[in-house]
Parts: sequence; C-alpha cells; structure tokens
Amino acid sequence: MKKLKFLFAVIGVSFLLSGCVYNFIVPEEVIPPIDVDDPDAPQISFATQIEPIWNNNNNCTACHKTGGTNPDLTTGNAYTSVNVAKYINSATAEESKIYSHPHPDTNTHKQKKYTASQAALILGWIQQGAKNN
Ligand code: HEC
Repeated sequence: MKKLKFLFAVIGVSFLLSGCVYNFIVPEEVIPPIDVDDPDAPQISFATQIEPIWNNNNNCTACHKTGGTNPDLTTGNAYTSVNVAKYINSATAEESKIYSHPHPDTNTHKQKKYTASQAALILGWIQQGAKNN
C-alpha cells in the first residue's frame, strides 16, 4: 500500500512539474522592405536566401518538384523555372506571380503562403534584378 501511495505521489508531482513548462513563442523577425535606390542595400542572395524558402522542409517543393506542379522550385531547377515573364515582372515587381500568388495577404494560393518576411525577401530579390547570385 505504501508503494502505491509513493507511486501516486511521483505521478502527481510529475504532472505538477510538467504543467509548469513554458513554451516561449518567438515572434517572427519581420524584414524591412529593401530600399532599391540605396546602392548600399544588402544584396539578397538567390542561393542562400531565396531557394531555401522554397526547399527547406519541402516548404514548396512538396508539390513544386520536377514532374510535379509548375513551377519546379527544386534547388538547381528553380532559377530557370521562375526566371520567365510568367512568374517575374521586372517592370512592376509587385505583379510578379512568384511573389503575388502565394502572398500572405492574398487568397490566390490556398495550398501554402509565404510568411511576411519571406514575401519581403522575394520582392526585394526581384527588385534587385532577380539575379542568380
Ligand atoms: C500542397 C501542394 C502545394 C504546395 C506546398 C505549394 N503549392 Fe504552389 N501550387 C499548387 C497547385 C496545385 C497550384 C496550381 C493551382 C493554383 O494556382 O493554386 C500551385 C500554383 C502555384 C503558382 C502559380 C503557378 C502558375 O503557373 O500559375 C505559384 C507561383 C506557386 N504555386 C508558388 C508556390 C510557392 C512559392 C510555394 C511555397 C511557399 C508553394 N507554391 C507551395 C500546390 C502547392
């Protein structure tokens, strides 16, 4: 009987302890819009900042892969797929489909949307000339 009491006490205490675990929610860092007229503005890199948005954790490439839904956003193929007038409007960057279609403020692409920071990076990259850098 003593053993049973002890067991209940241990279970009780562990419930109490686990109830006190805090989950800190780290707010998303919002990237300020890129000033395209500023020659000192940091250059956004396609390879290290844009492609990972599409590929990390198969964020977009779960569907947008080779042989899947167009555009093919897999690393190595993404630049060629996206660097066409259908997806990039170099005159009016905001109207580029690769930016506007999955934009968080629109409902055009219900499957998945960019976060605000990701959208800001995509827009900045297009404004800086959509380079394969
Ligand atoms: C669950 C599958 C799925 C995921 C994940 C997904 N998409 Fe899509 N996407 C689709 C489908 C299906 C279409 C075609 C229908 C439509 O336009 O919504 C599409 C269409 C698009 C289009 C327009 C294509 C065209 O030729 O008109 C773009 C641009 C696009 N997706 C970008 C993205 C980006 C960027 C991501 C990641 C943030 C993403 N998608 C994640 C399924 C997906």
